Amino acid sequence: MSRRWQAPRGTFDVLGEEAVARAHLEALARRVLESAGYRRIETPVFEHTELFARGVGESTDVVQKEMYTFAEEADGASYTLRPEGTAPVCRAYLEHGMFKQPAPVKLWYLSSFFRRERPQKGRYRQFWQVGIEAIGSDEPAVDAESILLLAELLEALGCRGVRLRLGSLGTPATRQLYRTELQAYLRAHADELAAEVVARIDLNPLRAFDAGDRGTRRVMSGAPRLLDRLADDDREHFATVCELLDEAGQAYTVDPTLVRGLDYYTRTVFEFTSDALGAQSGVGGGGRYDGLMEEIGGPPTPGIGWAAGVERMLMTATTVPAAEPPTDLFVAYASPALRAAAFRLAADARRAGQAATLELGGRSLKGQLRQADRAGARYVAILGDEGVALRDMETGDQRDVDMATVIHHITRPAL
Ligand code: HAM
Repeated sequence: MSRRWQAPRGTFDVLGEEAVARAHLEALARRVLESAGYRRIETPVFEHTELFARGVGESTDVVQKEMYTFAEEADGASYTLRPEGTAPVCRAYLEHGMFKQPAPVKLWYLSSFFRRERPQKGRYRQFWQVGIEAIGSDEPAVDAESILLLAELLEALGCRGVRLRLGSLGTPATRQLYRTELQAYLRAHADELAAEVVARIDLNPLRAFDAGDRGTRRVMSGAPRLLDRLADDDREHFATVCELLDEAGQAYTVDPTLVRGLDYYTRTVFEFTSDALGAQSGVGGGGRYDGLMEEIGGPPTPGIGWAAGVERMLMTATTVPAAEPPTDLFVAYASPALRAAAFRLAADARRAGQAATLELGGRSLKGQLRQADRAGARYVAILGDEGVALRDMETGDQRDVDMATVIHHITRPAL
């Protein structure tokens, strides 16, 4: 007997109610983001490996161990399944000369991404993100607006226990100085730190703030903070972002230890978490990446964006519709001779904009009516040898109608 396959570890099928929930999320995201001037973009599932190595950063976990990379035999080039969307969107921005458009260029996406992570609840190897990128402006108002949009989306979904943490990483120059200061501090306390933190002092000392072990946490509580070392213009930029969020009534906590897993961030960084999630509490996050465009071969161009995990948002969402969208018309027929007429009626109803289905499983008339009920149909047209009976499933009323007028009867006047 041949083997029965299962989806690979860390991946999943989307079906039934889960598919309905995702469609709902997509519709909300489109409404929230397009109302704010964002336009949809989709980029390829794989890109040149170098784009992520340079864009996301060689020292990140994502690039070091989580990328699905493969070589193309013919040209020997190395490709990688996208682990995130910001570098690809910036690549597309440059490739299509979007810098000619008025800034900021506002783009949104809903796509799947790939990271070779250890699968657990809320953490998958193929997962979906809704994300936005606003490219070409360094105005703090763009930062605040983008944060508010994610807050709005989470609210529209009814996500539970949401909190916003906010920080600023300053410019690369400030960060470099701070990094040196932090490295010196970490080296001075090396014997109290976890071995993996010590191993990262050279490559990524900031990640020490992420460590969970007691010793490291104690040391880090006294560590110098980047937020206290910001240059004046960065400090002002951050203060304005905070003011605008206050103005909009958006609650947040300033977290001087907020570090993100990707290297491209400058200035504003933020993360939305949910108390309703387990260990993987990050629902969505992002920040500014004013140096990324240069890193991938473009002119200096500021940008900011975020991405939120679709699975994690849905895990905490409360406004997700449970059932399939209702069927307007279910076409049932009493005998096989009427199948063609039933088929035509259902097709005509769909052409007229109605959600219409018909019996395709070879059921008896009784079975068909049960099926119509299960599908939550508003109307059932029952084709018999004598004509058509139309049943209103909400009221139970049934009357004989002319075949040609069925669609007219079920069409609700537009509001
Ligand atoms: P990120 O923080 O790596 O940022 O991912 C954003 C969100 O994607 C996370 O908060 C989480 O909800 C979801 N996510 C990440 N990895 C997984 C996984 N393995 N399984 C399930 N969900 C996951 C970025 O990707 C940046 N590109 C965001 C950004 C856009 N920054 C600026 N612009």
